[in-house]
Amino acid sequence: MRGLIDITDFSVEEIDSLIDVANDIIDNPKKYSEKCKGKKLATLFFEPSTRTRLSFEAAMYELGGNVIGFSEASSSSSTKGESVADTAKVISCYADIIAMRHPKEGSAYVAMKNATIPVINAGDGGHCHPTQTLADLLTIYREKGSFDNLTVGLCGDLKFGRTVHSLIGALSRYSGIKFVLISPEELKLPSYVKNDVLKKNNLPYIQTTSLEDVIGELDVLYMTRVQRERFFNEEDYLRLKDSYILDLKKLSLAKDNLSVMHPLPRVNEISVAVDNDPRACYFKQVLYGKYMRMALILKLLEEAEK
Ligand code: CP
Repeated sequence: MRGLIDITDFSVEEIDSLIDVANDIIDNPKKYSEKCKGKKLATLFFEPSTRTRLSFEAAMYELGGNVIGFSEASSSSSTKGESVADTAKVISCYADIIAMRHPKEGSAYVAMKNATIPVINAGDGGHCHPTQTLADLLTIYREKGSFDNLTVGLCGDLKFGRTVHSLIGALSRYSGIKFVLISPEELKLPSYVKNDVLKKNNLPYIQTTSLEDVIGELDVLYMTRVQRERFFNEEDYLRLKDSYILDLKKLSLAKDNLSVMHPLPRVNEISVAVDNDPRACYFKQVLYGKYMRMALILKLLEEAEK
């Protein structure tokens, strides 16, 4: 059964088509209000979430469907030792589609292999977060009109930031993209992303530790949170957590048409004063996530019925 585990599971044409559907939903919401009548989405969240879980649930309700699920591992039978594989088989008896978040890398793939309904990866450890990438792509498309020839800065925790890994995978398939990787030495992009995506596709990129040095070159600046939950050592987290704080002074060095993005939640990475700057896109990004998840649910349920 087809699901979405990694953003590159979908072709560029399929992603472009999801963007078209999401734009149509924005323009004509009533046309979609009963498309999933009688269908159930199961949200299986073994890790905390505000945006992803609630936007999936809002997406299904706005399509006329229903939602079942749990929002923490402690309220599921995983605490009694049930495996992800068994959970996926069980939920396949109750629902039509699954959105699952889990702290372990590869868990969504295991769920997909064992479910008889589509599985959507809503974040698996430090690996991937493909539906955040769908939100990011719609945001970039609506802000810039195209994905080609953009200089995209990714700033913060590039090591554990699963949204960064998925976004690089998605953007690497468009032409003329240049990446600027801004991080402390300890939180650099993992070599598997660098080798398998950037080097393999001959994509231009630079690595730097200074946001100020490069902010003026960027079309998109994607800020990220230092991921406390992925650190083994609290001291390292405390030392690195405030490495980059985007404030109005730094933003004054940027282009007038820069798009500032962040998958959220934000801790200190973007000063609240930046929220009122027209270049701040991160709350629009939240809203666009719901529309892309609506388009995704529609696509996967249509394919499952074939
Ligand atoms: N961006 C994101 O995944 O947010 P949540 O953790 O709140 O779902």
